[in-house]
Amino acid sequence: YPIFAQQSYENPREATGRIVCANCHLAKKPVEIEVPQSVLPDTVFEAVVKIPYDTQIKQVLANGKKGTLNVGAVLILPEGFELAPPDRISPEIKEKIGNLYFQNYRPNQKNIIVIGPVPGQKYSEVVFPILSPNPASNKEAHFLKYPIYVGGNRGRGQIYPDGSKSNNTVYNASATGRVSKILRKGKGGYEITIDNSSDGRQVVDIVPPGPELLVSEGEFIKVDQPLTNNPNVGGFGQGDAEIVLQDPSRVQGLLLFLASVILAQIFLVLKKKQFEKVQLAEMNF
Ligand code: HEM
Repeated sequence: YPIFAQQSYENPREATGRIVCANCHLAKKPVEIEVPQSVLPDTVFEAVVKIPYDTQIKQVLANGKKGTLNVGAVLILPEGFELAPPDRISPEIKEKIGNLYFQNYRPNQKNIIVIGPVPGQKYSEVVFPILSPNPASNKEAHFLKYPIYVGGNRGRGQIYPDGSKSNNTVYNASATGRVSKILRKGKGGYEITIDNSSDGRQVVDIVPPGPELLVSEGEFIKVDQPLTNNPNVGGFGQGDAEIVLQDPSRVQGLLLFLASVILAQIFLVLKKKQFEKVQLAEMNF
């Protein structure tokens, strides 16, 4: 969950560029981000994050039963950009957002926004309403090209903040030896006893409800060999985009320049016509 990242990491993007969700959501799946190529200051625009997956698919839940997937994302904007206030969001964008409730990663870090978990069947495409800064009133903001980073996830993670494994991952043998006993527990899950072949002691590996067993009693197994399948069907991915904070006077300047070029062209043609008339008149003498 994004809240796990908020509690454990001051900055969701590590120095290497890796987004911290990947530390617990170990599988990789793609995400996409779409933003305008450029925005004017103090303007509301959409950042669209796509977290595609097969919405028919089910995953193992914490109780071992099967259920649908949820999605979540973290959006890291340039300094000065922030979530648009509700009264600035147009009805069109409001409709696309739906009932989503966005949050800042930290109360004082308005440029980092998180969402989720929310149902993936409805929100595999999330629209973030963003307000661009105004360099006239915000001295931190400049008319520049900026990077935007996004991390998006569907499905449950493999590791809890305390370091323990979730039931949505593969379980491996902790010793080499013979599987002497497999005990099926009441609520699901297994206790697998392995007779360690190097020191003769018995070890018991515990598999929670969820993953499917791949070994059977009497089998000889090696240390780290998978005891179960990997039930995980989700995954995390990250992406980036670029956005230009555009100075409106630059656009006006460009338009003025283009208009002057067109005018000059027209006057040249008129001059040519006039000259042709003079040529014709001279020929009649
Ligand atoms: C579950 C997103 C960071 C561990 C989830 C779910 C989402 C999500 C959407 C629900 C999945 C579902 O129900 O189908 C994210 C995002 C993160 C992030 C966007 C980064 C901003 C982390 C971190 C950890 C973590 C840092 C580990 C410290 C887990 C675990 C679950 C989970 C263990 C399953 C919880 C359960 O059902 O018992 N995450 N997560 N996540 N996440 Fe994350």
